[in-house]
Amino acid sequence: MSDERILVVDDDPSLLTLLKMRLNSMGFVVTACGSGEDALHCAQEDPYDFAILDLRLPDADGLDLMEELHQYQTNLPVLILTAHGCIPNAVQAMKKGAYGYLTKPFDDKELQESIDKALTTKRMSEEIHRLQLLVNELYGLDNVVARSPQMHAVLQQVARVAKTDTTVCISGETGTGKEVIARVIHCNSPRASKPFMAVNCAAIPETLFESELFGHLKGSFTGAHQNKRGLIHSADKGTLFLDEIGEMPLALQGKLLRTIQNREILPVGGQIPIKVDVRILAATNKDLELAVREKRFREDLYYRIQVVPLHLPPLRERREDIPSLAQFFLTRHAEHHHKVVKGFAPDALQRLMTHAWPGNVRELENMIERSVVMSPQETITTEFLPLVSQETTQPGSLQPLTEAKEAFERDYLKDLLQTTQGNISRASQIAGRYRADFYKLLKKYGLHPSDKSPEISPRAPRSD
Ligand SMILES: Nc1ncnc2c1ncn2[C@@H]1O[C@H](COP(=O)(O)OP(=O)(O)OP(=O)(O)O)[C@@H](O)[C@H]1O
Ligand SMILES: [Mg+2]
Repeated sequence: MSDERILVVDDDPSLLTLLKMRLNSMGFVVTACGSGEDALHCAQEDPYDFAILDLRLPDADGLDLMEELHQYQTNLPVLILTAHGCIPNAVQAMKKGAYGYLTKPFDDKELQESIDKALTTKRMSEEIHRLQLLVNELYGLDNVVARSPQMHAVLQQVARVAKTDTTVCISGETGTGKEVIARVIHCNSPRASKPFMAVNCAAIPETLFESELFGHLKGSFTGAHQNKRGLIHSADKGTLFLDEIGEMPLALQGKLLRTIQNREILPVGGQIPIKVDVRILAATNKDLELAVREKRFREDLYYRIQVVPLHLPPLRERREDIPSLAQFFLTRHAEHHHKVVKGFAPDALQRLMTHAWPGNVRELENMIERSVVMSPQETITTEFLPLVSQETTQPGSLQPLTEAKEAFERDYLKDLLQTTQGNISRASQIAGRYRADFYKLLKKYGLHPSDKSPEISPRAPRSD
């Protein structure tokens, strides 16, 4: 049984009664009005899912009435009843925004089909709208946890670039939130209601890459049985997110560059380029500068995508974000798993704060989800945070400040070399030191730019 509400307007009392009976038997809730004035009055009081209007009413023209009803409810589907099957009237009705028309006399089947079609379309567009709102809410700026000054700076930049069509390249270690930021940019841009296509360049086999991205024409290669629309084309009017762009095959980088420059694509086997209107966002967890130097990534493409570079720092460099992120994930997963878990015991929070988080925010989220599922009480204790102990600093084993500072500095430099893959310019820039000072620091800890692996020889710090 449907409880959808239908407004029916006709000045013929017998037809009105008949329609009401038929529609009631189909399961609709019907409001029957004999005049345009009555109908407007009803529409002011309540929203309707559908309206059936007679073209000729004693006090109004059905089409004018439709326009007035649309002022209250823009998306109301309207079916116009025409007495003599007058085609020009029907055409005019459709032009003015009627969903359809029926010629009197009509049978139950025709009536039911017209209503079903209109309501299915309406339900679908409402569902799309609902999902869109949900997605936009999920990726609203408010849903990105950012307490640290570094993340505040990132979000300020995000807010600035979101409204534009600028190409943005988001860099950061794995799990730092690159995709979240890309979606936030899209959802806060004028393209928010259009598609967001995420392409993971590392996940597409090289042989399929071109056809996946640019599409192909039927018969362009063995197995191309029909035309295929590429991912870039599917992102038309929306945003294309090229994740792990550093993994894109060199041979296709030139073709992508042309797409970005000329805003057009050439499908495999095609002769005529197709115009596309896409905003490009890219992400990488690799050092693209190094890839350029090693000729694995085209320099011209590098500059094209780096119009606005956004860097997401690893979690260990923005520990102020940890408590808020932990609470955010706790609430999210407690709700999802229907568990009453409300917070963390102080030592559990301390453990979260001191962990190295090599997997960044994603690792933190997974850990919190697990602890929410496992915890038998409202407060999560250390027992339910199975973090590897050598990665945490136990409160009982605290070192003297100088030693702790040196250990931190050393680990920090190792991480920096690892992240920048030994690129001293970038490392010194991130550390906020001159190159010469940075070299001195490396020397102090017996580190070398090529010391990128986590297993760096444990030499004692020198005092120079
Ligand atoms: N600032 C944040 N606020 C809320 N959730 C976040 C934030 N940053 C990351 N997350 C969450 O952390 C997880 C990892 O984020 P995301 O997938 O965006 O990372 P990524 O940098 O793209 O990782 P990878 O390099 O592995 O692809 C996601 O579940 C995301 O919802
Ligand atoms: Mg990602």
